[in-house]
Amino acid sequence: MERSPRPAVFDFHGVCMTEMVTNNWDNLQNFEARPDDILIAAYPKAGCTWVSYILDLLYFGHMGPDRQTSIPIYKRVPFLEMANPNLPTGTEMTNQLTTTPRIIKTHLPVQFVPKSFWEQRCKIVYVERNSKDSAVSYFHFNHMNKSQPDPGDWSSFLEKYIEGQVMYGSWFDHVTNWWEKWQPYSHIHYMSYEDLSLDLGQALDRLCSFLGLSPSAEEKEKLAAAVKFDKMKENNMVNYSTVPIMDQKISPFMRKGKVGDWKNHFTVYQNEMFDQGHKQKMKNSTLKCIARINHFNMTKKLPLSSPQDL
Ligand code: A3P
Repeated sequence: MERSPRPAVFDFHGVCMTEMVTNNWDNLQNFEARPDDILIAAYPKAGCTWVSYILDLLYFGHMGPDRQTSIPIYKRVPFLEMANPNLPTGTEMTNQLTTTPRIIKTHLPVQFVPKSFWEQRCKIVYVERNSKDSAVSYFHFNHMNKSQPDPGDWSSFLEKYIEGQVMYGSWFDHVTNWWEKWQPYSHIHYMSYEDLSLDLGQALDRLCSFLGLSPSAEEKEKLAAAVKFDKMKENNMVNYSTVPIMDQKISPFMRKGKVGDWKNHFTVYQNEMFDQGHKQKMKNSTLKCIARINHFNMTKKLPLSSPQDL
């Protein structure tokens, strides 16, 4: 059987994209959000599936086992901008949802989010993951997912990643632009993968308080057990094992699930080069390391001044 070629990235309004996103652009931009929609936004590999599953359980965990055992997470939480030929688009899938609120996932940079989300003042959960672990996770994901551009070898991928020449563009632009948007827009909850890893209970409490939910202690305990990495890894409804375009023999979707795995990939030289790029690209932003900001319970009025070191 002939292998379909990997898609190429191209510049799209200043951001590297593939046709998987731009194919449905007008429908995407004209998407009609509802006031109670909840948007989960993140740069790729920040833990979107983790947060999607948490939100799904918070809102629909009571609906009985069928939902959890027969509907994959990508159908419960549609990927808004997805426009793969021969598959329903993300906007179609979202419009077909029968549950309320609709929980929707996106990797769009903030400037590309359809304007109806802002007009309707929808709640938005932005998930950040430290840049180094994101890079490693993205590299492995691009290998196993044939709808992604070919990542090449690790060192050339890392160079492209630092320069934003990968699908969805620069990690630095993504997180800092969402961060700037958060400041005037109180309907955004800015959280991190590291928050979830370091103290799931506290991260859940903050998330619930933002969403206006108050699950019982027993519900929270049940949820925390269900969203553990090992549990999700063996759960076919959240581990993407039902998606043929992902070759999990190359790398499982639920790969390591760790903070700091970058240390197993970066050479000393790559680390120095990355830190330099990081410092340069983040120099005008008050965002330093959201994981530590949240972990030590500091507020956005007290940005840390030391560089990101996770
Ligand atoms: P790794 O490749 O580092 O293992 P996304 O869902 O945004 O594509 O992110 C995928 C990353 O989140 C993968 O990272 C995956 O293993 C990790 N992940 C998913 N669920 C997780 C969980 N319950 N605990 C820890 N990491 C999780």
